[in-house]
Amino acid sequence: MHDQPIQEQQTIILEDPEQLIDIQALSNSVIDKQNSMLKEELRASKFGRLCDCKPSHLNCMEAKEWMLSQIGVWQFYYEKRDIRDKKKHPATFPISLAQKIISLFTHEGELVIDPFVGSGTTLLAAQDLNRNAVGFDLHPEYIQLSSGRLAQQNTFNHCRQIAIQDDARNIDQYFAPESVKLIWTSPPYSNLLNRKRKNKSRRDRDNEQLDKIEQYSQDERDLGTYPVDKWTQAMGDIFEKLLPLLKPKGHCVINVPDFWMDDSRITLHLYLVDELRKRGFELRNTIIWDRTNIVNNIGIFGWPSNYITMGTTFEYLLDFYKPSK
Ligand SMILES: C[S@@+](CC[C@H](N)C(=O)[O-])C[C@H]1O[C@@H](n2cnc3c(N)ncnc32)[C@H](O)[C@@H]1O
Repeated sequence: MHDQPIQEQQTIILEDPEQLIDIQALSNSVIDKQNSMLKEELRASKFGRLCDCKPSHLNCMEAKEWMLSQIGVWQFYYEKRDIRDKKKHPATFPISLAQKIISLFTHEGELVIDPFVGSGTTLLAAQDLNRNAVGFDLHPEYIQLSSGRLAQQNTFNHCRQIAIQDDARNIDQYFAPESVKLIWTSPPYSNLLNRKRKNKSRRDRDNEQLDKIEQYSQDERDLGTYPVDKWTQAMGDIFEKLLPLLKPKGHCVINVPDFWMDDSRITLHLYLVDELRKRGFELRNTIIWDRTNIVNNIGIFGWPSNYITMGTTFEYLLDFYKPSK
């Protein structure tokens, strides 16, 4: 037994379905326990400002930075800390984008939540900027990835950043009403990734993504498996439950693209604006994230008869807020 290769020992456990179920149940109960402790702790927390800014100010920005932010088309670069390996996570945004949104809509010490946190980019940006932040994701591997990235940063500050494994539908159980200053996220883009990659620009080259499905999971709670109608409804249901958590005039910024599927333009941003307005949010700004500086190797689409703009060249940053009473 002592000399048995580790691989074989693992196989014995995995071949016993009852044991497998027990291990799953055990890990679920540990997560449930952890999450209920976090719910109690977070609901009791205050998340007040740590800066000396005037109460009426939206953020800690000086006038010059504010002026530059008035431009409605933004560009960002990835840095070394950013994750660009699609095997680690298929769809991340740059830390600098998360920093920009957090700087615009919060003060030091205030609370940011990201309902679809993925690799934890929002949490890293919040750590850089001395903001409290809590991110949620369905998948344990992304929670581990986020926590690992946070632990690697040597930033000392007075705030906490936490990644929680839970469905975005349960977030209202974690926070007191009007305790959140900013909701910032990039949700799954309906079922855009839930199909085989046919990226023409990469077809002729060594391309590990070609013919692969890059979706996060096939979990029935995963919004990346939903067609547009079901996705819109689910987003509405989730954000309606988040609205009471936001402070009056607290912002909610959501990053989505439109895309092309089965010979049709899918206007995800329009569906989302309509749905969130119905659920009580007010649209304040539409910002274009110009991605042309980070897109390389453009292929040819539709030529010579069907004009199609490349979805990867820009995305929307939809800025809503909670109207004050
Ligand atoms: C576009 S990614 C977010 C990426 C993130 N902005 C980053 O920079 O890494 C969307 C995430 O939503 C998660 N997700 C999908 N359905 C969810 C649900 N119902 N609740 C919580 N997370 C969910 C997926 O696992 C995925 O990691």
